[in-house]
Amino acid sequence: MKKIVVLTGAGISAESGIKTFRDDDGLWRNHRFEDLATPSAWQQNPQLVLDFYNVRRKQLLECKPNAAHLALADLENHFQVQIITQNVDDLHERAGSSQVLHLHGELRKARSTKHPELVYLLDSWELKLGDNCERGAQLRPHIVWFGEYVPHIDEAIEQVKKADYFIVIGTSLVVYPAAGLVDFVPKNCPIFLIDPKTKLSDDTTNVRVIAEKAAIGVPKLVQQLIQQKL
Ligand code: APR
Repeated sequence: MKKIVVLTGAGISAESGIKTFRDDDGLWRNHRFEDLATPSAWQQNPQLVLDFYNVRRKQLLECKPNAAHLALADLENHFQVQIITQNVDDLHERAGSSQVLHLHGELRKARSTKHPELVYLLDSWELKLGDNCERGAQLRPHIVWFGEYVPHIDEAIEQVKKADYFIVIGTSLVVYPAAGLVDFVPKNCPIFLIDPKTKLSDDTTNVRVIAEKAAIGVPKLVQQLIQQKL
């Protein structure tokens, strides 16, 4: 079975109602990320950091996967599909994708500040000061903050190296090491880029640009790939 590796960013969840980071109304527009998504922010003002993620977690519980997430889940009936996402939402999983690698963590999970191997799925939207792990240490959002190591990057690189098709959806490709994954795509592997505002043009070798919103462009591409295969 051919292997399709998909790298997704905030743009794939935009039509589910989740703000992106760098679009005009993006999340960072109202906040400096230095104030929120860094270990020093957590040290200086843990309540502010908890509030930032609580607001996003509450919003996530009201959102649902869109046609792009669902089309990628459908692709698993025809190909081996590995999703590598920068997103911390669980919309890929809720759509039915079974192989999802989160590079930047998972919003619905929390982990111990003293025993990072202790990770918990939160059953509500709110994580508070005083919510502790089973060994009594404060819980923190299970998010990879700027300056922190990206634990699954090596596994992601190995997956990209084995791709027969590589699809990039809804990412500005400005944050490393995630953006660097494109450098590991095998030489003759077709690359598809789905983004309404991408800077890349079609003549970039081996890249087919689909300048559409994900909920339109992804189902179209998935249908083409399935028809090509059948
Ligand atoms: N469909 C497809 N793409 C879209 C849509 C849409 N409906 N709306 C916006 N986009 C595109 C934008 O054109 C942009 O290229 O999605 C991309 C979003 O880029 P960012 O907001 O930078 O999000 P992302 O690339 O995921 O950010 C990477 O930065 O702040 C960190 O950890 C955070 O994981 C995040 C990382």
